[in-house]
Amino acid sequence: MAKLKLPPVPSNPLSSPKRPGKEYGPSGARGHAAEAGVSAVDWIDERTSLSGGLRWAMFRKVPKGTNWFYTLGSSTMFAFLSQAVTGVFLAMYYDPSATRAYESIQYINNNVFLGEFVHGMHRWGSSVMVILIFLHMGRTFFFGAYKYPRELNWVIGVALLVMTMTMSFSGYLLPFDQRSYWATIVGVNINGTGPLVGPYLSEFLRAGPYFGATTLSRFYAIHMLMVPGAIAALMGFHLYLVAKLGTTAPPWIKAKGPEKLSEEKVTVEA
Ligand code: HEM
Repeated sequence: MAKLKLPPVPSNPLSSPKRPGKEYGPSGARGHAAEAGVSAVDWIDERTSLSGGLRWAMFRKVPKGTNWFYTLGSSTMFAFLSQAVTGVFLAMYYDPSATRAYESIQYINNNVFLGEFVHGMHRWGSSVMVILIFLHMGRTFFFGAYKYPRELNWVIGVALLVMTMTMSFSGYLLPFDQRSYWATIVGVNINGTGPLVGPYLSEFLRAGPYFGATTLSRFYAIHMLMVPGAIAALMGFHLYLVAKLGTTAPPWIKAKGPEKLSEEKVTVEA
């Protein structure tokens, strides 16, 4: 029976490998600083054992043929993180009241240091995230990654997709200019035509029977509290399942036949 040894795990997964001739690390102030960092990490690890979880998540085998298409999920995640960071800065100046919202956006664009840039990043970033999520969904679909045992991860992905679209829709109203106002009325009315839940959904979005000042607060709460929180939680579960189940090999990589597998039974040494 062939025995497969696990690869050696570095004692400190955060330290970089030493260059030849520099086995003892940098000396002087830099050396002390590096050692202080390592002992701080050791101190935390001794009390939390976090490195075990980190090793479990990071030191994984990836299937043969893994390629650039496998980066689309992480790219979507980074787009979300960028939206979260730029969103926090916008929220410092944005005022979600019907009389002040438009002005506060003008203030961000014209008076706040880098305001227009951060606003632009957030605006364009939303489209980037939508494009990336669709590309990622296409990759998982065409590589058959929705099949057993990853069906639940596909379903979580669908929820993430719906919530990402909800983020785009709810964010569109916030500048409160003519275009965002009327486009959102159209969007809410379209939601209202849905079967069974449609009328309740549009009533919930409007925060009442009519489109009014409270609609803006409702959209703001949905946009910056309700949905991002749910996205972050589901993303965590999505990534947990990816780490647990591993990724699917591309369809052009042939799996070993059952006879081949039974020939070389492999046991993994702990
Ligand atoms: C916020 C949105 C999302 C994020 C941040 C995200 C993130 C990721 C990451 C990092 C991976 C592993 C690497 C990769 O395959 O790219 C992954 C895998 C996966 N994702 Fe997503 N994802 C999202 C949305 C979706 C959507 C919309 C679907 C499908 C409806 C989906 C279905 C899957 C599946 C089935 C896998 C497993 C892939 C495999 O086994 O090869 N994800 N996701």
